[in-house]
Amino acid sequence: MRDSSGPAAIFDTAAHRRLLRRIIRAYDSRMVRGYCVARFLIININILHMLGLCMRGKTRILDVGCGFGLFGCYFAARYPRLAYHGIDLDAQRIAAANRAAERLGLHNIRFECRDAQTLDLSQEYDAVVMLDLMHHLPQGGKQHVLREAHEHLAAEGCLIIKDVARRPSWKLFFTWALDVLMTRGFEMWYWDERQFREAVDVSFRLEAYPIADWLPYPHVLYLFERQAAGAAGPAGGLYAENVALAPAGRGESNLEHE
Ligand SMILES: C[S@@+](CC[C@H](N)C(=O)[O-])C[C@H]1O[C@@H](n2cnc3c(N)ncnc32)[C@H](O)[C@@H]1O
Repeated sequence: MRDSSGPAAIFDTAAHRRLLRRIIRAYDSRMVRGYCVARFLIININILHMLGLCMRGKTRILDVGCGFGLFGCYFAARYPRLAYHGIDLDAQRIAAANRAAERLGLHNIRFECRDAQTLDLSQEYDAVVMLDLMHHLPQGGKQHVLREAHEHLAAEGCLIIKDVARRPSWKLFFTWALDVLMTRGFEMWYWDERQFREAVDVSFRLEAYPIADWLPYPHVLYLFERQAAGAAGPAGGLYAENVALAPAGRGESNLEHE
């Protein structure tokens, strides 16, 4: 599964499954292993491929809200060229992530306990990834982490956000109920793509990819890339279509995919 010479022309599904099993086994707790199985079902092979493509050509990756670090371990194992840095507020998750990375023999990844809402970065990154973090942060926290990411992205850097869209509403309700169960709190802050667009500097072009699968989650992947000087304005790319389709002032997601 290692790709030191670049991605293999033919994807090795068996090796991929073996890698997922190795990662899951690297965690001590049965509950965490169960969580990892569920996460790899939700963030399935298609989403992993999409994330891998978004990271193509990037080296220094920051994963904010990395949780137990399973996706960090996955990408660090698949792409040894990466220097992966995962951070999370939860010290126990970070300890489990570091143990797993050590067991997997990964030397290109490190995990640290940090709060995204007061994040103060000291280095530059080629990509900042946030997988299902943003809806756990209130408005001010989201704005802080986005600003911090923006200020520490390399010239060709990108922002990769996997989050929850607000449509269809039954999927949003299901996701919210699950989030309440997992966090034992009721407050979640789901943004629509217009809010994401407005929160990130206009020098970044946004492409939004709703994930259409059988699962009851309204997933969406946002890729923000810095535009070359003189390129189309902030309404370029897929987002322009979305804006054109959105009824003015509704403030809801128009990324219906059903
Ligand atoms: C739904 S989990 C996603 C974890 C991981 N990204 C994944 O996809 O498996 C959300 C994570 O965000 C973390 N988190 C919540 N608030 C945070 C904050 N203020 N700073 C850093 N991490 C935070 C939680 O501890 C949790 O691990």
